[in-house]
Amino acid sequence: MNDLFTDHLAAWRAYTATPWARIRYAVVGDVLRRECDSLGERLRILDVGGGDGLDAVPLAALGHDVTVLDPSAAWLAEARRHAAEAGVDVATVVGGLDDLPDGTWDLVLCHFVLRYRPAGPGDVEALAALVRPGGRLSLMDVNPAGRVLRKLVSEGPAAASVELVADRLETVTFGTDTRKVEIDDAVAEAQDAGLDVRALYGHRIANHLLVDDEAKRDQEYFEQLLSLERDLSGRAPFNRIGMAWQLLLERP
Ligand SMILES: C[S@@+](CC[C@H](N)C(=O)[O-])C[C@H]1O[C@@H](n2cnc3c(N)ncnc32)[C@H](O)[C@@H]1O
Repeated sequence: MNDLFTDHLAAWRAYTATPWARIRYAVVGDVLRRECDSLGERLRILDVGGGDGLDAVPLAALGHDVTVLDPSAAWLAEARRHAAEAGVDVATVVGGLDDLPDGTWDLVLCHFVLRYRPAGPGDVEALAALVRPGGRLSLMDVNPAGRVLRKLVSEGPAAASVELVADRLETVTFGTDTRKVEIDDAVAEAQDAGLDVRALYGHRIANHLLVDDEAKRDQEYFEQLLSLERDLSGRAPFNRIGMAWQLLLERP
């Protein structure tokens, strides 16, 4: 029997082709490129739950040694396909947060995985243990506050009030719900695991407040939106209200 993610790979492909997904990968790509530039050349990078490689492949294209770890062989096949299309190599390993590899890495990514996992500090501790001194961890997940604002603008105040107090978050692409991973809880878990916070970024901040999704398919409008997202991403207070948060953490 396939897992939830393998079953929904076609829906994921459709999602990643949308303007709003392209914004997410473009702005996260900018953040990661800057982090890599400040860390050095030919970095060893591990993407935990890296799925179809959309964050990992651009890093391999920059000349880094990238490994994508994921429980789904089907998603990893997509990662290899994306890498081949880009003319680069990524190593793929079947596995996940319960069977992480030994050793340490210059940069570890774990994007949109924590919310599918049980609450508690174990996953962030395990990820932090993979980061070499001076190395970094990029954690990313859906921002519960951003979801409240999206409900407000798309469905109105009653729906926003329900979202605010809901225990769980819906996922559209995977037809399930997940726990809420709050920014400040992730910060506390990372600090307890010995990491310092370098930066907090928000993603799809303006996009989330614009309910006319059709307009985003117009190239000129899309470019304006992407430019605004690039400008807002690292700035407070906007970095706390987007669809997603991204924490850049460092082991001293
Ligand atoms: C929403 S996708 C995100 C993929 C990618 N990180 C991204 O942001 O584009 C979630 C990914 O987590 C993977 N996953 C599920 N359970 C996992 C676990 N226990 N450890 C690591 N990854 C897991 C899934 O197979 C899937 O590729």
